[in-house]
Amino acid sequence: MEKRLEGKNVIITGARKGIGRASVELFAKNGANIWACAKKFDTKFEMEMYHLAEQYKVWIKPVYFDLADENAISTALYNIIKEKEPIDILINNAAVSYGTMLGMMPISKIRQLFDVNFFAQLQMIQIIAKAMIKNKQGAIINLASVSGMEVYIGNLAYGASKAAVIYATKQLSKEYAPYGIRINAVAPGVVHTDMDQTRTEEQMREVLERTALKRGAQPEEIAKAILFLASEEASYITGSILVVDGGRIDF
Ligand SMILES: NC(=O)c1ccc[n+]([C@@H]2O[C@H](COP(=O)([O-])OP(=O)(O)OC[C@H]3O[C@@H](n4cnc5c(N)ncnc54)[C@H](OP(=O)(O)O)[C@@H]3O)[C@@H](O)[C@H]2O)c1
Repeated sequence: MEKRLEGKNVIITGARKGIGRASVELFAKNGANIWACAKKFDTKFEMEMYHLAEQYKVWIKPVYFDLADENAISTALYNIIKEKEPIDILINNAAVSYGTMLGMMPISKIRQLFDVNFFAQLQMIQIIAKAMIKNKQGAIINLASVSGMEVYIGNLAYGASKAAVIYATKQLSKEYAPYGIRINAVAPGVVHTDMDQTRTEEQMREVLERTALKRGAQPEEIAKAILFLASEEASYITGSILVVDGGRIDF
């Protein structure tokens, strides 16, 4: 099998489960070395990363920090930079999803969600892009969502955070293009992960009714889109939002 990222070094947040975990496996399979970021130390995760690295003959280093903690992000990333390995790719994948009507949600909770879903992504880009500039190349992929493009009642906090990610992706792609850094986003629809459990049965039925393929995605199907944007095959793509939603039907 052709390895599309042979020898590339990648940072992936939210690597312990869901889309992030599927991306670790696909990237390792394609020859990439990985800093696999998770919120807290986890023995099972450590073992899984060890076995994947053995299986695909790459290195995978678990890194633990809370994306809600600005200092923790800086410390973790500067420790990675100190390793003096080139950083080729950053996958800003981790996020949280919760929310309800504005009238029922304290502003402090919305701020907390933005800290993880938006400000942490910006901080990751700010620090890692500086390291990428030295090598005059890099690819950054942010996880957005179709929720950032469409209005769902009761989804203000999450939807607005993903709309912000979409705007930042487009804007920052222009800011960093002169340094050879491409910045794109993947915007999934329904993906069967723990996050998708936050939808009620009725919300799920409604979303699938409007999905042309009549099913949600497996996390691996989103990982494939992330891999594409990270790879040389996407060398002329920057500032794009790749929608991976099974086809949206507008009634
Ligand atoms: N699932 C969907 O239907 C869907 C649809 C559209 C977009 N997306 C987007 O796709 C991305 C991945 O989502 P997913 O479905 O894979 O979700 P998931 O299974 O819930 O995984 C979320 C990941 O984010 C990490 N995370 C959350 N808060 C964190 C924090 N404070 N510090 C560090 N890590 C934190 C978690 O880390 P730990 O495991 O270490 O706690 C977890 O690995 C997200 O950006 C999400 O918004 C998902």
